[in-house]
Amino acid sequence: MQTLSITMTVNGEKVSLACTSNLTLLDVLRDKMGFTGAKDGCGGEGECGACTVIMNGKAVNSCMVFIGQADGAVIETIEGLANGDELHPLQKAFIETGAIQCGFCTPGVIMSAKALLNRVPEPTESEIKEALAGNLCRCTGYKKMIEAVRLASSGGDANDR
Ligand code: FES
Ligand code: FES
Repeated sequence: MQTLSITMTVNGEKVSLACTSNLTLLDVLRDKMGFTGAKDGCGGEGECGACTVIMNGKAVNSCMVFIGQADGAVIETIEGLANGDELHPLQKAFIETGAIQCGFCTPGVIMSAKALLNRVPEPTESEIKEALAGNLCRCTGYKKMIEAVRLASSGGDANDR
């Protein structure tokens, strides 16, 4: 195991830190940086999507990214979405549609949705389903989450609220 010097831009801020090469991006975000929105829902097996963050514009399972692979990367987490007290349109839409129940999966789902909307501002239902396919939710049955993503898209009207 090596000690690595890592530099990343997280939610717009450049950070440098030393960490051992066995750590994942999820470990570092949660345990060293205090960004606990991303969750470990499956013991780092890459199966639940609760740990999803955006890395260089793409939604990734942060439990599957060794920290060395994130050196130099631009990372967005759920904590970076709101603008002060003003929630992001996706966050507003999830609340408005009742797409949050226990909330464990929500940060990961929202980051997958954000990566989709960055790429496809007005996605179809099947594009939304595909983007959320790696995010497991035990509570909501997905319907309301899909509705929320549609509401937050440029075809919806959550941006006006
Ligand atoms: S913790 Fe489940 S996919 Fe990462
Ligand atoms: S809201 Fe509970 S797991 Fe999705």
